Amino acid sequence: MVPAAPTTAPSPELAARLAHSPAGPAAPPGPLRARGAWRGGGSARAPPTGQAPGPCRGRGAGGASARVARAATVSSGTARAMASPGFSAPGGVAVVGSGLIGRSWAMLFASAGFSVKLFDIEPRQVTDALVSLRKEMKMLELSGYLKGELGAEEQLSLISGCSDLREAVEGALHVQECVPENLELKRKLFAQLDKIADDHVILSSSSSCLLPSKLFAGLAHVKQCLVAHPVNPPYYVPLVELVPHPETAPATVDRTYALMQRVGQSPVRLLREVDGFALNRLQYAVIAEAWRLVEEGVVSPGDLDLVMSDGLGLRYAFIGPLETMHLNAEGMLSYCDRYSEGMKRVLKTFGPVPEFSGATAEKVHQAMCVKVPDDAEHLAARRAWRDGCLMRLAQLKRQLPQ
Ligand code: NAI
Repeated sequence: MVPAAPTTAPSPELAARLAHSPAGPAAPPGPLRARGAWRGGGSARAPPTGQAPGPCRGRGAGGASARVARAATVSSGTARAMASPGFSAPGGVAVVGSGLIGRSWAMLFASAGFSVKLFDIEPRQVTDALVSLRKEMKMLELSGYLKGELGAEEQLSLISGCSDLREAVEGALHVQECVPENLELKRKLFAQLDKIADDHVILSSSSSCLLPSKLFAGLAHVKQCLVAHPVNPPYYVPLVELVPHPETAPATVDRTYALMQRVGQSPVRLLREVDGFALNRLQYAVIAEAWRLVEEGVVSPGDLDLVMSDGLGLRYAFIGPLETMHLNAEGMLSYCDRYSEGMKRVLKTFGPVPEFSGATAEKVHQAMCVKVPDDAEHLAARRAWRDGCLMRLAQLKRQLPQ
């Protein structure tokens, strides 16, 4: 049995994140909570407790008192979840792999009232995850940043550790795979899930860049499979890319889309698979040109980053590149009319794919280290600062009219 996770101080990373937040740790809960859409952390790893999880049932993360109330909480939470569009079958969510991303998914699903079974090949990882989730969700609640309508204790009581894959998946309406980005490992796991799955459960991979046609090839339940790629940290960055296999049933994408909306995420549908999906293709295009500009001595690494953080990035937090075009002239056609020749001229000057090595790599590295030394402590502090900014930005976005 997974022991009740002790109520302890927040993880250093989350504490730092909140301390760096302009609102500070005592920021009052805003309207976000009531709207059930706040996003919190999920990245910190707690110290091990040395206790391994047992089978799933009755092993919540919520402590003894929470477990007493758990049955009622789970059924009411699941009932709420079932009332959302796209979900008519009973069941909760199984999260397979309890590392960085698995923990975030567990928090997101629980925030919307779903019961969550958290499985990992390493039982210790599950135990650690439950401790870490408790710390993180309690701190988020204290600071007013806990997502969802349920309190931290209620949400924690919805999350169970599990040491048996079959039990984790049994009766689930959705399985979110979060094991390391390794094609063979994931294919092996999906082959196992394929044998366990009924004809209704959705089998979803968090993969960042493995193509569904490779991940799900030959599975009997391929119609129920897709990639749902989150963005790190998923609690603050709501985008999820839904990428189908050529044989994925449209209903699978529809149901996953509804589920993602239900947990406060922002799903986008890719109509067919493509290497890098949409997000990384855009990101790599930006990185490649940034690199070339530095490599060719046009701009310093620090100034290059400012072009994004004090320039394009401010706008892109609210509108995308296509809407930017639409608004920067008298509509899209006007923009194309005015600027297409200039864009094509500039685009033709873009160089080849950079090597991302050698002297330029050294130069960029040194410039980055002036700002953020690359030891673990400085990097963690800067990530905590970044996550605090993202948390505040997400809050602002929720408050502004869309
Ligand atoms: P991680 O290394 O933090 O966690 C992976 C977990 O899976 C570990 O706890 C490990 O014990 C467990 N595991 C390994 N084999 C397993 C098996 N056969 N069955 C069950 N559990 C198993 O990895 P992380 O960062 O959480 O990544 C998970 C997935 O999410 C990857 O596909 C990654 O590409 C994707 N992803 C990661 C992002 C990131 O920034 N870390 C962002 C978006 C997606």
